[in-house]
Amino acid sequence: MDKNRVYIFDTTLRDGEQVPGCQLTTVEKIEVAKELEALGVDVIEAGFPISSPGDFQSVVEISKAVSEPIICALTRANTKDIDAAAEALRFAKRGRIHTGIGASDMHIKYKFNSTRDEILQRGVDAVKYARKFTDDVEFYAEDAGRADNEFLARMIEAVIAAGATVVNIPDTNGYCLPDQYGAKIKYLVDNVSNIDKAIISVHCHNDLGVATANSIAGIMNGARQVECTINGIGERAGNTSLEEVAMILKTHHGLGYNTGINSKRIYGISNLVSTMMRMPVQANKAIVGRNAFAHSSGIHQDGVLKHRENYEILDPEDLGINPNSIILTARSGRHALKHHLERLGYKIDKVNLDEVYQRFRK
Ligand code: KIV
Ligand code: ZN
Repeated sequence: MDKNRVYIFDTTLRDGEQVPGCQLTTVEKIEVAKELEALGVDVIEAGFPISSPGDFQSVVEISKAVSEPIICALTRANTKDIDAAAEALRFAKRGRIHTGIGASDMHIKYKFNSTRDEILQRGVDAVKYARKFTDDVEFYAEDAGRADNEFLARMIEAVIAAGATVVNIPDTNGYCLPDQYGAKIKYLVDNVSNIDKAIISVHCHNDLGVATANSIAGIMNGARQVECTINGIGERAGNTSLEEVAMILKTHHGLGYNTGINSKRIYGISNLVSTMMRMPVQANKAIVGRNAFAHSSGIHQDGVLKHRENYEILDPEDLGINPNSIILTARSGRHALKHHLERLGYKIDKVNLDEVYQRFRK
């Protein structure tokens, strides 16, 4: 196994689809799932089968329609949820049950009205039960971002001993800062005696705008699976954005990490998800926003036309984006104007360019 391979777990169809107004039909979900497969994701979280008949059916149909990625179904830590997930995954070539429970004292007290020991036992029981159906069981320690590290380590050690093969450390409320989240992952690497028996997964929400930074900090401290969504959609301020993680790891290849993502398909799937979910992408969104490669000032346009990399660290063609991103604005210079005139088939000498440029500026 390549120890620097980072697995991409896409949850656009589960965490992403929970967003009000973003619901998709099963047919639409299958289309997105096929595009995710072509994009090269390793895991597709296809839904939460117990939550609704529609979610159940979507997991069934996606399991039939997609063969490369692992198909994952979400559950809470109880037998009814796990039974439903196992049933929905029956056609999956490789199925994963994703079960879990709250790990922070906040959730233990105010959500479950319980104790640490009781909650830990419920997590262990859920993993053992899920293992009866599949040997691919992921455990999530909900609100791990705010959980006490010592208790979290105890819980993670116990669920791995019970059979969890992936352990998800969600920053459910997007609370952590990158150094804190990275340190939490390192704490688990250093303090969970059987951590080598499982893959650590990061699942970060974007409430403070640092979900991607937190995920990268997690990878740098030992996580090897990232849970993310196309365009970063998801509950509240969203999840870690898949395209950002993929392009960070590709651009900073010196770090040594690799994914199976075919970056040329990023822009296409970004548009598909945005259109289908009626969720516009903000213009200045990193990687896929309308302005991510739009140069408007004369200085930048001149620099890009001389040598693209003067002002672009990513190659738009690498993302499947039309590279023609020189936009004529009131701040454009002669170089940009000449570039567009030539594109339209007009050859123009210096004297004429000066005159046309003065008229253009007016
Ligand atoms: O944010 C979260 O904690 C989740 C879990 C259900 C994995 O989405
Ligand atoms: Zn989440």
